[in-house]
Amino acid sequence: MTETVLLIGGGGREHAIAHAVSESADATLFACASNRNPGIVELATGFETIEETDASGIIDYAESVGATLAVIGPESALNAGVSDALESAGVYAFGPREAEARIETDKAFQREFMAEHGIPGCPTFETFDDPDAAADYIREYDGDLAIKPRGLTGGKGVRVTGDQITKVEGIDYVLGGDYDAFVLEERLVGEEFTVQAFVANGTVRTSPAVQDHKRAYEGDEGPNTGGMGSYSDATFELPFMSEADYDAAVEILERVVDAMPAYRGILYGQFMLTADGPKVIEFNARFGDPEAMNTLPVLDTDFVSVLRAARDGEELPELQFSEQATVCKYAVPAGYPTDPEAGASIEIDAESAGDARLFYASVDAREDGIYTTTSRSFAVVGIADTIADAEAIAEAALSRAGEEGLRARHDIGTAALLQRRIDHMNELRGDR
Ligand code: AMP
Ligand code: GLY
Repeated sequence: MTETVLLIGGGGREHAIAHAVSESADATLFACASNRNPGIVELATGFETIEETDASGIIDYAESVGATLAVIGPESALNAGVSDALESAGVYAFGPREAEARIETDKAFQREFMAEHGIPGCPTFETFDDPDAAADYIREYDGDLAIKPRGLTGGKGVRVTGDQITKVEGIDYVLGGDYDAFVLEERLVGEEFTVQAFVANGTVRTSPAVQDHKRAYEGDEGPNTGGMGSYSDATFELPFMSEADYDAAVEILERVVDAMPAYRGILYGQFMLTADGPKVIEFNARFGDPEAMNTLPVLDTDFVSVLRAARDGEELPELQFSEQATVCKYAVPAGYPTDPEAGASIEIDAESAGDARLFYASVDAREDGIYTTTSRSFAVVGIADTIADAEAIAEAALSRAGEEGLRARHDIGTAALLQRRIDHMNELRGDR
């Protein structure tokens, strides 16, 4: 049976999803987003410019194209109840309803849910609706804290004392008026990794671990970004972790789904591998961006067949992965994220990317070419038997991108950075 799939969202993550749908047997792709991503537009049979949070606009489009399935990329759409709205209109959306998406969209709910259900890996935390009370808590707390605005902040709202800021700066931050509700929690120390699971009808199917790089500059310096790039290995683990660490993370995701059986879509666990094993930094209710670009290209199982099983109330199929390593590097406009300069010409295209996959994110496609905006521009993904080879493929593509006005983190996936991660974990574990 042919499926008509409507994709919601227009970033690099969604270009990767569009590619996975286009490789599926018997699927026709339509897409909508607030931005015109030229990679998605090329793959889709139809594209419409619609805000990701415009539930009624999305329903109208879904009905007009006769969608039989929908895939929701960004959290803003989940938060706006787009999954619920599509369901009411008779279109199954692979993406949680607003109530279950709270696991991402409401950080106080997320921590209280973990505590209530005894889900392992929860740091000690307190929730606050009053900035003055939060400031007092920071003043009196003995140790470093992660300070998290309660709602969505595009990955840019968290501040960690003893890392990016001092406690005094933390107090100024909560009193600064940008946010009024917070979660304050113990600072976790270790190495971060992501595990994304396909979830529906109580089944949890996990994919290889990925490490994202949130900091803007090489050597993990500078402000947090949406993510500058990421890598995964040919196995399910990463070089700094054991199989037992991976299994502990999977167990946490399974416990979440046991406690929330109505959950469907991608459940993304972001973990800190500490000396005591993985702890939960957060859950997201969707694929990661960039992590989707590591995972979907090595998924050998037909992507749309997984969505169809989810919709039809079946157990999800076992997932097959190609046992290859991936390295994803984002090219961002010069000055990103603090002072981004738009308007630089992007010289690379799918052909000149060579062996690398090219995924567009936020670009301005004009008559005479493709230009940067003020957000992440595009990503290149190398896929090979080893991380080192995948890194070389990604770098070769970047070197053809046009240097003017673009920047990337060249250290992502290099042997030197991997060794630092391994040494860091050995040091933490040796301290025990
Ligand atoms: P989030 O927006 O929740 O993904 O957090 C952004 C970043 O803040 C994470 O990638 C971590 O680097 C950091 N972070 C969040 N929570 C903690 C924590 N409890 N301890 C240490 N770092 C954290
Ligand atoms: N890579 C982090 C995120 O998608 O939130």
